[in-house]
Amino acid sequence: MFVKSCPSWAISESEVTPEHIYINRREWLQKVGFFGLGLASTASGFGLFSGDANAAISGYPAPRNGVYQLDRELTPKEVATTYTNFYEFGSSKNIWRRAQKLATDPWMITIDGLVETEMQLDAVDLITKIGGLEERLYRHRCVESWAMALPWTGVPLASLVKFAKPNADAKYLRMETFFDPEVAPGQKQNWYPWPYVEGLTLAEATNELTFLATGIYGKQMPEQNGAPIRLVAPWKYGFKSVKSISRFTFTDNQPVSFWEQLNNREYGFWANVNPDVPHPRWSQKTERLIGSNKIVPTQMFNGYADQVADIYKGMFLENKRKLFY
Ligand code: MTE
Repeated sequence: MFVKSCPSWAISESEVTPEHIYINRREWLQKVGFFGLGLASTASGFGLFSGDANAAISGYPAPRNGVYQLDRELTPKEVATTYTNFYEFGSSKNIWRRAQKLATDPWMITIDGLVETEMQLDAVDLITKIGGLEERLYRHRCVESWAMALPWTGVPLASLVKFAKPNADAKYLRMETFFDPEVAPGQKQNWYPWPYVEGLTLAEATNELTFLATGIYGKQMPEQNGAPIRLVAPWKYGFKSVKSISRFTFTDNQPVSFWEQLNNREYGFWANVNPDVPHPRWSQKTERLIGSNKIVPTQMFNGYADQVADIYKGMFLENKRKLFY
C-alpha cells in the first residue's frame, strides 16, 4: 500500500515555509496580542520550520510529561517532517511540499453523533477549552515495518471525550479527515474511499496513551504531519493515527476505516502492533529505524503492553489474529 520514494533529507528549513503561511502566523500573533505583550522577539527567534508558521494554538514548547520514556534516540526532525504518509497529497513519502497548501487556521471541527450537544468549533478554541499542552516522547511504528521515535505535543484524547459528553450508547469514536480535492490532489483519485476515516473504541480513546497531537519537536504541527490536529495511538500501526481531523463522531457502530474499506484482509479495525502476527506482506518481527536504518526487534503493543493490554483482556478468544489486523 505505501509506495516509498526517496525522501529529501537535505532541504533547508527556510525552504519549508511558504510566505502565505508566514503571514498567517503574523496575523495570529497580532490577534492574540503577542506583540503587545512584548514577546515579539521570542517569536522572531523561532526557526523557519513550517510548524511555527501557522501557529494558532499557544503553549509551545510545552512541558514534557516524563512518564513516557524512549528506548532509542529521537528521529531527527528533518527526517520525520519530510518522510511522511499523507495520501491526500500523493502516495509517495515525499509530499511535504505539496502539503503546505493545506490552510489550517481557521480550522473548523465538528463533534457530533451520540453526544449531549453536537457542536462545531475552531481547533484553537477546542484545544483551549480541553486543556493545557504537554509533550510526550512516543515510539511510532508503521505497518510497513519502519519506525520512528517522536516528540509530540498535544492533549490526551480523553480530554476531548470528557468535553464532548458522549451518552451511554456511544461505544466508538470515529475520526474523519478534511475533504478538499482542490487542495489535496490525492482526493481526486476516486478509487480511494475519501475522506480518510479511522476509529477507536471508547476504551481505547480514553486510554492514558491516546493523544491528540497539535505539534511536534516543540512547535506547531507542520501540515505534512497532520496539522492542525491528529491522532497518535502509539501501540497501533501508524495508519490508525489519522491526520488533520475535521470531525469526531461518537457512535454505537464500529467505524470502517479508510484502509479497511480498501482491503480488510490486510488492514483491520484493531491494528495493534504484534511481532508474532505477520502482515500478509511484511513480517512484523523487526523494524527499521528511519534515520539510522538500524534494525531492532518489534515489541508487543509497540512496547506499551503495560498501558493497553488490559483493554483487550478476554476479547478475541475465537480469533487472536483479529486483534492485530
Ligand atoms: N492520515 C491521513 N489523513 N492520511 C494518510 O494518508 N497516513 C497514515 C497516518 N495518518 C495517513 C494518515 C499512515 S499510513 C501513517 S504510517 C501515519 O499517518 C504517518 O504519520 P507521519 O507521516 O507523521 O509519520
